[in-house]
Amino acid sequence: MNQKIFIKTFGCQMNEYDSNRIYDTVKKIGYYKTENYEEANCYLLNTCHIRDKAKEKVYHEIGRVKKIFRFKKKPLVIIAGCVAQAENQEMLRREPYIDLLIGPQSYHKINDTILNHIQEKKKIEQTDFDTFSKFDYLSKIKNESGKVSSFITIQEGCDKFCHFCVVPYTRGPEYSRPFNQILNEAKYLAEQGVKEITLLGQNVNAYNNEGLKLSNLIYEIEKLKEIKRIRYTTSHPKDMTNDLIEVYKYSKKVMPLVHLPIQSGSDKILNLMNRKHTIKAYLKIYEKLKSINNKIKFSSDFIIGYPGEEKQDFVDTLKLIKEINFINSYSFIFSPRPGTVAADLEILDKQIASSRLEEIKNILFENQIIMNKSFENKTLDVLVENLTDDKAKVFGRSEYMTPVILNGKEDEIGKIVQVKINRSNRTTLFGDIIRNSNKRVA
Ligand code: SAM
Ligand code: SF4
Ligand code: F3S
Repeated sequence: MNQKIFIKTFGCQMNEYDSNRIYDTVKKIGYYKTENYEEANCYLLNTCHIRDKAKEKVYHEIGRVKKIFRFKKKPLVIIAGCVAQAENQEMLRREPYIDLLIGPQSYHKINDTILNHIQEKKKIEQTDFDTFSKFDYLSKIKNESGKVSSFITIQEGCDKFCHFCVVPYTRGPEYSRPFNQILNEAKYLAEQGVKEITLLGQNVNAYNNEGLKLSNLIYEIEKLKEIKRIRYTTSHPKDMTNDLIEVYKYSKKVMPLVHLPIQSGSDKILNLMNRKHTIKAYLKIYEKLKSINNKIKFSSDFIIGYPGEEKQDFVDTLKLIKEINFINSYSFIFSPRPGTVAADLEILDKQIASSRLEEIKNILFENQIIMNKSFENKTLDVLVENLTDDKAKVFGRSEYMTPVILNGKEDEIGKIVQVKINRSNRTTLFGDIIRNSNKRVA
């Protein structure tokens, strides 16, 4: 078979990882990636269910595909990811254009599912939680990410059941991949030229495989000399244990940006959300990490307008943002999700929620502008990832993940270079390489 597949990914980094691994899999039955969806024989949408907007985007996208292919041979339409898991049969009823549904823990069955469909022309839904078999299968085929900075999913699912969140229902129970399986994947990526690894999980710091934790994994991966930077996301404050905090004392490769979602600055709201920790406990983690390395910065996620959020709760959130000086953070208006505890709670007035979101966003933007300005005329280590679209410069990231555009050529890709920052805006730093650092990579 020689077919073209177009893959569109919504949602979090775990979906990005999954899309890459799905491609590693379907290649085996003759599907090759195309960036031009009009020529695709197979159209795969890897979907996100976290907020209602994310879900609706999927139906809009299918509408668009239908239009494009109105006078052409219909492509095979596969819906993968969290919407497929959450809506399953309902999706097939609402949108008959869909041929196959594959939930996040069933990707290893995608080839058989496609081949079955081609033979029998039946709609098929694969939504078992078979996480062990999925990773067992994936460990036998190579991760061909081919990028300077790559993801490895090490943990899936969640047992925490925050009252607003669909993840425990779409990704299933917490599962940690075998330690050696992950190390083998990291080694293979290192051999392929990867320089930065981001370890992924919905609760990445809950990783525990026969007593081996995220801290053990970081220490092992950092022994790979080709790997220069290690990141992990997303963490839960409750699993920010001392062994992980100590990594910041001993590791030379863990980056000084800690993404630790807090959601709200009010204990009352954290309790209503079933977050299982207090602001005091969060601040303690912050203080411990800052005392180990004052360079560490925090980023976070905030939900605005959670049912029961009063003016004072919101003011407490603003206060916390100022106190911790969060950078690179995300804020969202609460979106009721079917099947969750908070689904039927009385929601806040839309206008109040929107104006609170705007206020939070402005403060977070301001933090970002101030931080980026503070780097002007300073020298930063930047890992160069690729050429800019016009190929005139190169693009890289600082230790804090901030995009940096700098003068440089293709042979700089994959190296950590020192960059003098000349100017900045809210999202990006601009600078010039001052010298290739000693950290040049073979
Ligand atoms: N596991 C992470 C944690 O414990 O914070 C979060 C994972 S979730 C995929 C990413 C973010 O989406 C959450 O931190 C939260 O801010 C946001 N989110 C989740 N459910 C939401 C909802 N119902 N409405 C609005 N935002 C939501
Ligand atoms: Fe969702 Fe994170 Fe809460 Fe799990 S810990 S339910 S993934 S927000
Ligand atoms: Fe979305 Fe599923 Fe990730 S709901 S945020 S794609 S875990």
